[in-house]
This record gives sequence, C-alpha cells and structure tokens, in this order.
Amino acid sequence: MATLKLSSIFFLSFPGLCMERCLNSVTGRFLTQFVLVSIILLYAPILSCSKSTNQQELLKGFKATVDTSVPSFQALLRDPTGNLSLGFLKTDRTYLSLAVLHLPSSEPIWVANPTRLTHWSDRTRLIFDGNLVISDPHGKVVWSTGTQGDRVVLLNSSNLQVQKLDDSVLWQSFDFPTNSIVENQNFTTNMTLVSSNGRYSMRLGNDFMGLYANFKQDFEQIYWRHKAMEARARIIEGQGPIYARINPDGYLGMYQTGNQPVDVQPFNNFQRPINGLVRIRLEPDGNLKGYYWDGSNWVLNYQAIDDPCELPSQCGSYGLCRAGEGCSCLDNQTEFHPGECSPPETGDLCGGVAKNNFRVQRRKGVEVPFKELMAYDTMSSLEECESSCERNCSCWGVVYNNATGFCYTVDYPIQTMVDVGDETKVGYFKVRKGADKGKKKVGLGLGIGVVGGALVILMVMIGFGSYRIWKRRRGVKRFLEEEGGVSPGPYRDLGSASFKSIEMCNR
Ligand SMILES: *[C@@H]1O[C@H](CO)[C@@H](O)[C@H](O)[C@H]1NC(C)=O
Ligand SMILES: *[C@@H]1O[C@H](CO)[C@@H](O)[C@H](O)[C@H]1NC(C)=O
Ligand SMILES: *[C@@H]1O[C@H](CO)[C@@H](O)[C@H](O)[C@H]1NC(C)=O
Ligand SMILES: *[C@@H]1O[C@H](CO)[C@@H](O)[C@H](O)[C@H]1NC(C)=O
Ligand SMILES: *[C@@H]1O[C@H](CO)[C@@H](O)[C@H](O)[C@H]1NC(C)=O
Ligand SMILES: *[C@@H]1O[C@H](CO)[C@@H](O)[C@H](O)[C@H]1NC(C)=O
Repeated sequence: MATLKLSSIFFLSFPGLCMERCLNSVTGRFLTQFVLVSIILLYAPILSCSKSTNQQELLKGFKATVDTSVPSFQALLRDPTGNLSLGFLKTDRTYLSLAVLHLPSSEPIWVANPTRLTHWSDRTRLIFDGNLVISDPHGKVVWSTGTQGDRVVLLNSSNLQVQKLDDSVLWQSFDFPTNSIVENQNFTTNMTLVSSNGRYSMRLGNDFMGLYANFKQDFEQIYWRHKAMEARARIIEGQGPIYARINPDGYLGMYQTGNQPVDVQPFNNFQRPINGLVRIRLEPDGNLKGYYWDGSNWVLNYQAIDDPCELPSQCGSYGLCRAGEGCSCLDNQTEFHPGECSPPETGDLCGGVAKNNFRVQRRKGVEVPFKELMAYDTMSSLEECESSCERNCSCWGVVYNNATGFCYTVDYPIQTMVDVGDETKVGYFKVRKGADKGKKKVGLGLGIGVVGGALVILMVMIGFGSYRIWKRRRGVKRFLEEEGGVSPGPYRDLGSASFKSIEMCNR
C-alpha cells in the first residue's frame, strides 16, 4: 500500500503504465482497478483513438497541421507493410514530436527532435518542399532535414528517407538514431544513442562499444565497455573507424571494412534469423537491450548488463543493491522507496551555498559497481583515502578496500553502491546538507490500513485532476524531476512505458 505513491497515480492517469509495478499485491490490484475505472471515467475523452493514414509518400507541397482532436498519435505517412507510421506524437497536452511509431506495439522507434520540445497547437506544422520541416505555432523552424529532395518515404525497416526522383537518398533517419537501432542500421563513431530520460548514452570508441552515465554536468562515467574480440577479423589501424550493426543472423556486430565482423555479441536467436523487426534500445535504466517483434510482443533477446546491481543507478541516489535481494538505502535508517533514499543531485559541492556544506555517511561492506571502470588510487589507509575526498569538493565519496589498498573515487553525485557484505570494504559518502529533508524513516507509514489507504488515494486522485492541469503548465523539467531523472537537457521519456496509453487506441 505504502508503495502506491503519487507518482504511481500519475502513471495511472495514462492507463496501463504502471501495471507491472502496481499489480504486485492483491490490494494493489484492487486499487489499480478501482483507480483505473475512476480515471477512465474522468478522462474518457482523452482516450479516443489515433488517426491512421494510407499515404505512402509525401511529395513537394505536402503540408500537415496538428489535429487537436487526435489525442496521441496523428499518422501522416506509412510504410509498405502498414505496421510503421510517421506522425505527430503528443507526449502530453503540451509537447509534441515527429516520430516513427511501430503501430502494433505503439512504441516509437525513432524521434525527430528528442532534444528540442515543440509546443503544439493547431498551428504547428509539418511541411515538405524538398526540405522536411517542423515549424512551431509562431512559424519558427524547430527541426528540418535541410534537403532539396523530391519525396519522403518510410521503408519497412523503419528508415525514413528523403529521396530524389532517381531513388538516390539525400537524408535518412538511420543516420540520426534516437535511443534505438534496428536491423541493418549502421551505427557509426559519430552517432550517439541517448536513453529517453537523457541520463545514459552509447558510443563507439576505436575498438570498443561503451555506455556512459551523465550524473553531473560536463562529466561522464563509463559503466560498460565491450572491447572487440577480433575473432573473425582484426581491426586494422588506418582503415577507418569501426561501426556497429544488428546482423540478421542474430547478433550485434562491430565491423570495420567488409562483411566480416570484428566482434559478435550474440542474441538468444543467434544463427536463427527472425522474420520481423529486431532492434536494440538504450533503456532508461542504462541497460542496452535487444528485442524482436514476434507478432504480438517485443521479446527480449539480448542485454548488455545481466546483473542489475551493475547498472549505474539501479536503486537510485544513495541506494544499495544486493545481488538476488534487491534494493535498500546506504543509510540503514532510511526505508527504501524507488529513487527516494535521497533526492537526486546534479552538481558538486564546489560552489554557491552548497560549497563544502555536507555531512558524512559511512557504510561497511560496500563496493562501487563496475569498479574495473572506476578511477582509483592506491593508499595506505582508510583515513588517507577519506581525507583525499574530504578536501576535494568535486569528490562525492570514496570506497576503500583494506585488502588491496585501492581507494575508488566517485566524482559524481552518489548513486547506487553494491552490498558485498565484506567488511574490509568501507564507503565514505558526502551528503549535501538539506538534501535529505522529508525522507521516510523505517516503519513510518506501515500501519495504514487498506480502507484508509484507498480513501487517501481517492482524495489524492481527485486533487490530482487539478494538479495535472497545474503541472502541464509547469512543463517538462518538473516531470523529469518527479521521475527521479536528472536530465541535462529537455528530454521526454519516450521509453516503452510512456506510450502504452496509445495501445488503447489499437483495440
Ligand atoms: C522490406 O522491403 C524489402 C525491399 O525493399 C523486401 O526485400 C523485404 O522483404 C521487405 N520486408 C518485409 C518484412 O516486408
Ligand atoms: C551500412 O554500411 C554498409 C557498408 O558500409 C553499406 O553497404 C550499407 O549501405 C549501409 N546501410 C545503410 C542503411 O546505410
Ligand atoms: C505487419 O503486421 C502483420 C500483422 O500484424 C504481420 O503479419 C506482418 O508480418 C507484419 N510485418 C512486419 C514487417 O512486421
Ligand atoms: C545501522 O548501521 C549502524 C552503523 O553502521 C549500526 O551500528 C546499526 O546497528 C545499524 N542498524 C541496523 C538497524 O541495521
Ligand atoms: C579533485 O578530484 C578531481 C577528480 O578526481 C581531480 O581531477 C582533481 O585533481 C582533484 N583535486 C585535487 C586538488 O586533488
Ligand atoms: C586493515 O588492514 C590493516 C593492515 O593491513 C589491519 O591492521 C586492519 O585490521 C584492517 N582493518 C579492517 C577493518 O579489516
């Protein structure tokens, strides 16, 4: 009961969003149904259906304006199979993006302008005059392909292309991936995949593929690094950069020249080609996952990080992850709620009011995750290790291994540590003063009964109608904060969960 929080209710206002999380208990199920029915009654008009289209190419002179009566997705162009569609995707009542949607699952595969949000109104337009352009209500260009082509087509691979009449390609969406790549799409060294919440990114290096976390401005921590095995072909210096591609034979390959991969990361369906869409996606939790569409579901067939405790922020800020057991908080006096051990931090303790204004929290038996990728120095004692951090305002914490003398430095706001139980490993963490206001103590709130809880939720819900309206005006930043996301830019969460609402429309 205590886990059904305000944020859950926000999700419920787009039915289907938090089903997994909320259906964990019987009381949760009852409440979910109860809340769902109420919400559907309250917001029924929002849940009417999306518009479809039969248009298979856009020619010069094409113009479309946002249809305010379409609640979620307004299709403008479809692929030859009819399973993919380009259109306006409304992320809420305020913002919109141009996206390629996989219609059977209602999941966006590609988004044109993930970093620049477009306010929508009936004057927001998509124009094709050789150049494909989105213009905002004031007529300002917010995104364009910068081409002089003759037509726009959407291929059955999900690749959106601006072509000349002779079929030559001037621009393609494959060159501007968002958070996913699909089969046969070339991911090169100058591309980046960014998770829908903006916290994680994937890039290629000279001879490796890396995942990076962005927990502090202008600072990136690599948390997964996969070096090319070079079993079938070697990387030859001077032969140009490597690129990655999903091979129809069931693997994520890295290539340099020719068709022999320099690296193979096999999927579950390795050497068993699948007749359907295959893609990998950088998830909001920082994992890189592969899926194929089996006709009714996206089936997981690959993940880069198998142990959830090796994800950068599995249990949120100041969280503690124990293999097989899940999350708790670094401070054993604090009850764990997702993302709530402490509110997320972004900066450092170097400037302004935050300057060196911290208290210290220690915890034995912890380790940094992905420690082989973390910076460390060798020090002779725990005291020396701690004081190196204490004096340095860009340091948020250290973990000392008494057996090896390694002192690992955490140069970004503390995320999730790994509980290893080995007491020779000691963590020292800075907690900004004032950051831990309002967090719940163990035991608090456990006594609330089912009926009492239901009443509270009903009241919160009623209040929430007006809250949403207020919130919509507050815009995106606030939304991200509540999601527990620290976003360096105005990304919206375009992950799987956020658009399940559209599913309602396909039934
Ligand atoms: C997609 O289109 C290509 C040709 O453009 C065709 O060879 C292929 O069979 C199509 N795939 C599906 C699944 O329709
Ligand atoms: C991917 O790269 C290969 C090799 O450079 C090239 O032949 C192919 O056309 C590219 N595919 C796309 C979709 O750009
Ligand atoms: C499109 O959808 C239909 C029905 O859902 C399916 O039979 C077909 O294989 C799909 N095509 C592709 C390319 O996914
Ligand atoms: C919490 O941690 C402190 C110091 O690490 C320890 O003394 C105390 O027993 C712990 N409390 C619980 C409830 O585990
Ligand atoms: C403080 O820590 C940062 C990051 O570890 C490091 O680059 C810098 O040199 C340190 N400054 C001092 C004065 O030790
Ligand atoms: C750490 O190591 C030192 C010497 O290697 C030893 O004296 C001390 O007891 C150790 N401390 C812990 C907490 O294991």
